[in-house]
Amino acid sequence: MPQYQAVKGARDIFPEEAAQWKYVEGVVHSVASLYGFSEIRTPVFEYTELFQRGIGATTDIVGKEMFSFQPDPNGRSITLRPEMTAGVMRAVLQKNLLASAPLHKLYYISELFRKERPQAGRQRQFSQFGAELLGASSPAAVAEVISLMMHVFESLGLHGLRLRINTLGGTEDRMRYREALRGYFSNHHTSLDEASKERLEKNPLRILDSKNPGIQEIVSGAPRLFDYLGVEAVGDFEKVLFYLGERGIAFEIDYRLVRGLDYYSYTAFEVTSSELGAQDAVGGGGRYDGLSRELGSSSDIPAVGFAVGIERLLMTMEKQGLFAALTPDAPLVYVILQQQEYSDHAMRVAYRLRKAGIRTEVDLVSRSMKSQMREANRVRSSYALFIGENEIGTGQYTLKNLVTSDQTTLSLDAIIEILHEPAMKEYVKS
Ligand code: HAM
Repeated sequence: MPQYQAVKGARDIFPEEAAQWKYVEGVVHSVASLYGFSEIRTPVFEYTELFQRGIGATTDIVGKEMFSFQPDPNGRSITLRPEMTAGVMRAVLQKNLLASAPLHKLYYISELFRKERPQAGRQRQFSQFGAELLGASSPAAVAEVISLMMHVFESLGLHGLRLRINTLGGTEDRMRYREALRGYFSNHHTSLDEASKERLEKNPLRILDSKNPGIQEIVSGAPRLFDYLGVEAVGDFEKVLFYLGERGIAFEIDYRLVRGLDYYSYTAFEVTSSELGAQDAVGGGGRYDGLSRELGSSSDIPAVGFAVGIERLLMTMEKQGLFAALTPDAPLVYVILQQQEYSDHAMRVAYRLRKAGIRTEVDLVSRSMKSQMREANRVRSSYALFIGENEIGTGQYTLKNLVTSDQTTLSLDAIIEILHEPAMKEYVKS
């Protein structure tokens, strides 16, 4: 085994898989643009307090999953970003973007870091694409964001994903509910595990998220948040569902859905795939009107967003056979030298073809002509262009179609012209 391995929970992406990433990223860019979202890139690290305040001190992420360090002895602690929403809000507040326009629609494709125990679908370095709409959180804005996410899934050809949705109500609704939960779980105190007892003290809502089957059974009898909502929250939720229904987006209402981050209020949602194992959440999001104030803004900036885990998305696509037709770009021309002494000339020819926009390969490791031909076939080049004494002397090159075996002898200019004709390119591909 080689001496150095990738860090546990981080992985390499080799060209074949990189082609899948590029494809998915391309779809994300084009669907985001359909909905009028623009790309934002924020730093990979932020001051630790940003996440403590933004995501919430009692969450698993802040409690145990952050990669934090102190760059200098008296410096402030910084953290590799475990998610994007807090950083995007920080950036918008820092630049005072809302002063220039009331609404900002931003999206991102980014690497994140969480110190979780690695397993299938769960890594320590992973990636998300996501969108954040700042300046509005009306039901129409929520529906826009969910539609964008579902549109990406649909464009990728995914099927069978479950969208579950709930409303967490406003702050007061949740306070009433929290008290009700506290009462309920206190009555079951002796049956609670240690983690749940701790959550009961700090934030009883988090118990609903427990994966422990014993706790899940207790949770099934717990009061429902929905029954503690005021009319405003109910009306808002109904309007979101109306918009989704009107757009033909299938959803399931899940009154037990709470998310693992503290900044949510009103609508929250999650998408799962039955194609994945225990880590079946592909994406999630919701409204987070209170985050701006949490981060020191003098007013609540209405906001809503989502994020999708790209690794889990790719795993689902792989299972559904959606990459079958995806192949890395093959070269159009393979320049083949009859003898190594023509190497300089071959390099010049290859360079000219590339400058003319033609994907070209040329031998760099002094292979025999036979093995250059084998290589041209292996990389599925469409043409071979031969360089020999004759070609160099006359400036006329033999071009062989490797699919049909037809060949023709022409000047380099004529070859460039032929390879540029769209009809020819189509013909070459088929
Ligand atoms: P989240 O639910 O923590 O939400 O993460 C979103 C998605 O990221 C998950 O559904 C999952 O697919 C992926 N993910 C999370 N952790 C890992 C991991 N360790 N390994 C692989 N994939 C992972 C957020 O991050 C919120 N910022 C979403 C949001 C945006 N809410 C509003 N705006």
